[in-house]
Amino acid sequence: MDKEKVVLITGGAKRIGSYIARYFHAKGFNIILHFNSSAKEADQLKSDLLSIRKNSCRTIQANFSDESSFKQALKEILDSTERLDVLINNASGFYPTPIESATKEQWLTLLDTNATVPLLLIKALRPLLEDSKGCVINISDSEVSSGIPEYSLYAAAKAALESLTKSLAKELAPYVRINAIAPGIILWPEEGVLDEEKKAEIVNKTALGRDGEPDDIASAAYLLYRSTYMTGQVLKIDGGRSPG
Ligand SMILES: NC(=O)c1ccc[n+]([C@@H]2O[C@H](COP(=O)([O-])OP(=O)(O)OC[C@H]3O[C@@H](n4cnc5c(N)ncnc54)[C@H](OP(=O)(O)O)[C@@H]3O)[C@@H](O)[C@H]2O)c1
Repeated sequence: MDKEKVVLITGGAKRIGSYIARYFHAKGFNIILHFNSSAKEADQLKSDLLSIRKNSCRTIQANFSDESSFKQALKEILDSTERLDVLINNASGFYPTPIESATKEQWLTLLDTNATVPLLLIKALRPLLEDSKGCVINISDSEVSSGIPEYSLYAAAKAALESLTKSLAKELAPYVRINAIAPGIILWPEEGVLDEEKKAEIVNKTALGRDGEPDDIASAAYLLYRSTYMTGQVLKIDGGRSPG
């Protein structure tokens, strides 16, 4: 496995992360697929990828809000990985936190997945990424720059991720490149979070008049991997939803 290029994708068992995994796998990468609660989906994806190419995928479980779970997973990754070309910080907690009921615990939990663990992974995996002249791709959100009412804690955690992207791109250059992707509406949140009227309102504010496809994000991630003169950038893939 280690002779091939390797990508680690967090939160990769389903939704956008799973498309990124399939996309990189189709480009010849071996996949380290992190999941938390989606064991069934992770196993299915792993088995699909292994049926295409032997030894081309392994899974790793961790809850990023549980320090011992994260530490154990990181140890497993470091003990079993000789090569890493791309780290994709895709896992994310996402739920509303209206300010009148927002709590410190919510703030810390949203930071865990959206900023703290990405930072700790970059720090720990830096030597492997330097060896391969690799790159990091952080997945943010196109609405962070303009603010997201009722989701201020999530938006602030993603803003921290974008800030880390810019600072660490300078700090880790020229050996490791770090960029971010800021998706617009690609897959709607779980059933019941947004009603049909709200969804239509969001789509109407999108210049292209439709939502995107998960492969729009997967292909952008691959583009960032290939763009070796690009670092410290946040690439919006949002159908023209956000201004500027
Ligand atoms: N969907 C969109 O249209 C959209 C729009 C803007 C930005 N984004 C960003 O794009 C990325 C992917 O979006 P998505 O909608 O596919 O994401 P998602 O389904 O909301 O979350 C991705 C994965 O994050 C993992 N995760 C959540 N809490 C975790 C924890 N405590 N520890 C470890 N892993 C945890 C989950 O893994 P398990 O399932 O294994 O528990 C989940 O499958 C995210 O960073 C998101 O913020 C998405």
